Amino acid sequence: MRLDVLLGLVGKSRREMKYLIKTGQVTIDGQRAASYHLNVDTGLQEIRVEQDLLRIGQETYFILNKPKGVVSACQDKEHQTVVDLLAPVDRKDRIYPVGRLDRDTEGLLLLTTNGPLGYQLLHPSYHVTKTYEVVVNGPLLADANDFFAQGVVFLDGKTCQPAQLEIIETGDEQSKARITIVEGKFHQVKKMFLAYGVKVTYLKRISFGPFHLDDALPVGHYRALTRQEIEWIKTYLG
Ligand code: URA
Repeated sequence: MRLDVLLGLVGKSRREMKYLIKTGQVTIDGQRAASYHLNVDTGLQEIRVEQDLLRIGQETYFILNKPKGVVSACQDKEHQTVVDLLAPVDRKDRIYPVGRLDRDTEGLLLLTTNGPLGYQLLHPSYHVTKTYEVVVNGPLLADANDFFAQGVVFLDGKTCQPAQLEIIETGDEQSKARITIVEGKFHQVKKMFLAYGVKVTYLKRISFGPFHLDDALPVGHYRALTRQEIEWIKTYLG
């Protein structure tokens, strides 16, 4: 696509285009665009106008560090949603969270406009791993690892696939652990621990598929995935 067509798509007039080019405010992969007659590709090049990244014709992928109290939905009458946390420019019509974290759960949540990819990431047949940090209100004894590894059965008879438990510390009043699951049943982690006999008092997702929450992303903040990270998802799903 020609650069002038692209700039037209984001509402720039010819006059504005000329001005932006002349003043170096249109960049392609970090270099000033010399003319708007150039052929460009937003899938292959990073094109910025007045610093803003153009994402025309491309899917959007964000990684968010969800705070407590925010719902994993696009709209909600009562509570702030994960989409409300995005800057207005990033709040696209079709952007939605990939799966859900409970309102009181924190941590890593992907948001995307790529419906099919989001669907694949959630589908049980892809066995996308999710790891959570958990605090519970009682002891996690030596039998706990086997209990989770054998596949927890809920009271209603639903069976979970084997989960991997790593006990960090255990005590009569409180224990800490990491748990890795490969499904996303409703309230799954909380129900699994209830089945073991303790209640979850804190839950944070620290990884999802190939992504890990890192300290560079404070609670309530998000960032776009890099092209390489988007490739990781595709490779991960095979
Ligand atoms: N399991 C839960 O119980 N809650 C979440 O938010 C995520 C997994």
